[in-house]
Amino acid sequence: MPTNRAATRTDMGDAGPAIRDWALADAAACAAIYAPYVARTTISFELEPPGADEIARRFDALRAAGYPVLVAASGAGVAGYAYAGSFRARPAYRHTVEHSVYVDPGVQRGGIGRALLEALVATCAARGFRRMVGVISDPGQSHSLAFHLRHGFREVGTLHGIGHKFGRDLDVVMVERPLD
Ligand SMILES: CC(C)(COP(=O)(O)OP(=O)(O)OC[C@H]1O[C@@H](n2cnc3c(N)ncnc32)[C@H](O)[C@@H]1OP(=O)(O)O)[C@@H](O)C(=O)NCCC(=O)NCCS
Repeated sequence: MPTNRAATRTDMGDAGPAIRDWALADAAACAAIYAPYVARTTISFELEPPGADEIARRFDALRAAGYPVLVAASGAGVAGYAYAGSFRARPAYRHTVEHSVYVDPGVQRGGIGRALLEALVATCAARGFRRMVGVISDPGQSHSLAFHLRHGFREVGTLHGIGHKFGRDLDVVMVERPLD
């Protein structure tokens, strides 16, 4: 597990972690946070962890398209990140975003995910997006569903067996919330 960005509750202070816009210099830290989720879990449906260059390309493209990419600062490093992007490409979906939140495995359950998601929701609402959708892969294997239900999302359905990783067919659960 990555350790170079470790945050502690002391780092965060009473107000929680500082959330700021992602910068190119954060790409390697974000790639390191994401890699174990790809390599060892079914939380991500990617099969090979993308490197820092690919993360930079993806996040730059999101920003250029008007979507927010945020990081939780931890000292000089990063303890987690969150972003929103297009839900689907057809233009009638333009007010809806799909989001992701990833926290360094070493500092989970310390309020970083909450701070990132709340900031992402506020930023998306301020930019005029109206609805946020989460696609929770293999929901039995993570705390993502509980996390989202705690933060204003409601469960809207299960797609059965639409993923396949580590030799298993995998479900995804869709969650949604309004942004106004
Ligand atoms: C899901 C994730 C983003 C949550 O972030 P976090 O910093 O660990 O969680 P927080 O401390 O902010 O928790 C906020 C709330 O979420 C819920 N939650 C978080 N972790 C939980 C756990 N392990 N068990 C039960 N509920 C949990 C709780 O309601 C919690 O509030 P509480 O502590 O007051 O009870 C983080 O664990 C993560 O990165 N997981 C892997 C990637 C992932 O699943 N991302 C979501 C896909 S979009």
